[in-house]
Amino acid sequence: MKKNTKLIAATIVAMGLLTSPVVSAKEIVIKFSHVTTEATPKGKGAMLFKKLVDERLAGKVRVEVYPSSQLYGDKAVLKALLLGDVQLAAPSLSKFSKYTKKWALFDLPFLFKNPQALNCFTDSPKGQALLGAAERKGIKGLGYWLNGMKQISANTPLIVPEDAKGLKFRIMSSDVLKAQFEAVDANPQKMAFSEVYNALATGVIDGQENTWSNIRSKKFFEVQKDTTISNHGVLEYALVTNKRFWNSLPTDIRMQLDQIIKEVTTEVTQFALDAAVKDMKTVADSGKTNIHTLTASQKQQWVTAMKPVWSQFEDQVGKDNIAAVQQCNAQN
Ligand code: SIN
Repeated sequence: MKKNTKLIAATIVAMGLLTSPVVSAKEIVIKFSHVTTEATPKGKGAMLFKKLVDERLAGKVRVEVYPSSQLYGDKAVLKALLLGDVQLAAPSLSKFSKYTKKWALFDLPFLFKNPQALNCFTDSPKGQALLGAAERKGIKGLGYWLNGMKQISANTPLIVPEDAKGLKFRIMSSDVLKAQFEAVDANPQKMAFSEVYNALATGVIDGQENTWSNIRSKKFFEVQKDTTISNHGVLEYALVTNKRFWNSLPTDIRMQLDQIIKEVTTEVTQFALDAAVKDMKTVADSGKTNIHTLTASQKQQWVTAMKPVWSQFEDQVGKDNIAAVQQCNAQN
């Protein structure tokens, strides 16, 4: 009887092995969770990363990509990363205040002149040193991924700062962004990316700020009558992993993944630069939102109203980092 039970158990185990997918015991699984659609710079970057890993590390590493907040929103994903439930994420640098206060640099209004100045800074020694700012908390920065310059929208034209007075704007979870909107007497509301469309559609909030890529892919322009080309801030991502997980990888695999990330990062920059042009055109051609271009003097009024925010945060983000960005601005 006992012998029979053992035999049956062994047969079940053997059948299970035969019917389950062939997975080598050593295969490393990298779950990459993010919040944008696949047709965005980050979404394309994640898929390209998967493709290159499939090509170069088949049988050794498998990548699973979960876009559009399918698995986690940005707040939960960092907790999941630290718990080992996902291995890669790429939230906006605006969303890391629990892990480092330094990345708030990227939220300072009108700090970066253009995406080229942003890339110049992130490639610089200061930018590369800053990438390690969350390591003390177990989060390792593997690279910066570009999205682009942010634009501002509402259901009323936003031409001068007074136009924003009293309006509720959705912001990412950043105290700099809160201060930025308070500087124009608006009412900032921290909110998850996945909730923004409904909040705009139902009037829970009046406006938002984001890049052309996100305004287009999340259809914000369909529920905002007016969009201003403000280029007042940047959206940049940190591609991050769990430091302990990354250090536990076999050296040769880690080196190959680092190389793949380097190549993908270059491509993401191009995806982002292309998207900024193409998505702005799509939004403008839709006719669903009026696009407003500011005169130099109107733009200067926004700068004058928002720039005092810098002094509130310069000790936190480092005056030396601000100076390094300004050097990049001068070169681009
Ligand atoms: C993203 O591009 O990852 C989302 C940014 C946001 O929350 O606005």
